[in-house]
Amino acid sequence: MAYETIIVEIEDHIALVKLNRPDALNALNAQLLTELADAMTAAQANDKVRCIVLTGSEKAFAAGADIKMMSEKSYTEVFTEDLFGGETAEIGRVRKPIIAAVSGYALGGGCELAMLCDFIIASDTAKFGQPEVNLGVMAGIGGTQRLTRAIGKAKAMDMNLTGRFMDAEEAERAGLVSRIVPAKKLMEETMAAAAKIAEKSMISVSAIKEAVNRSFEVPLAEGLLFERRLFHSMFATEDQKEGMAAFVEKRTPQFRDR
Ligand code: CAA
Repeated sequence: MAYETIIVEIEDHIALVKLNRPDALNALNAQLLTELADAMTAAQANDKVRCIVLTGSEKAFAAGADIKMMSEKSYTEVFTEDLFGGETAEIGRVRKPIIAAVSGYALGGGCELAMLCDFIIASDTAKFGQPEVNLGVMAGIGGTQRLTRAIGKAKAMDMNLTGRFMDAEEAERAGLVSRIVPAKKLMEETMAAAAKIAEKSMISVSAIKEAVNRSFEVPLAEGLLFERRLFHSMFATEDQKEGMAAFVEKRTPQFRDR
């Protein structure tokens, strides 16, 4: 598929996916979501890709779902097409790690898209918010669910009910982002994090992603058992033998994803 609203570059085992609707602050319209889901699925299928980075522009990661696209829609239309259900589910099925590099606005669907990634690295200019309440609606891609799990009820209620924005420092304190870096260093630091992940065994990496995500779905005892069984299963891999031998022999491991 030729893309018009995103740019994809693959280099050194990292797929860099850049949202590219500068005139609309990367608002998520149907075309962008279709292209994004396609690019993510393609990155999952591409053996060369070991980590994915999703980013926007300096001014906006994404300023939300496209309000102009939605303004005239009826209930029947959004329900029938399951607006935002299909593409976000496709992105959710990606088993490779996805890092969101967020600069500027990550609002509404933009904040939700960042939360759909595995972790967020924010520039010191980042602003997060769920301002859908100002439009007479509410969040629809996880703003009341993933945000609550990430930052707790008090702040999630505050963000969703008042529509206020959170700056990068508050987002880091609250646990929404994993680190803050100066705006100029955002891509360098994010690509370095992606490169670190790309060095690991993909078996460990995919299992870790599955296990952390599982923690949101099951009770603790089930989650601990799921984790322990996955851990045990790794003793069937060559990468476990190689990783532990390399430690003992004081050398760098050569993982082969086997
Ligand atoms: N949808 C469509 N267009 C958008 C947009 C959006 N979410 N956000 C910004 N744009 C467009 C603006 O309409 C404007 O286009 P024009 O020049 O053609 O008028 C252009 O991007 C630049 O925006 P501004 O002039 O408003 O830029 P600003 O710097 O003054 O303000 C902003 C930036 C505070 C982010 C402001 O644009 C804004 O409040 N945007 C809307 C944020 C929002 O409400 N997001 C939630 C959307 S609903 C949603 O996401 C539902 C869901 O959960 C699934």
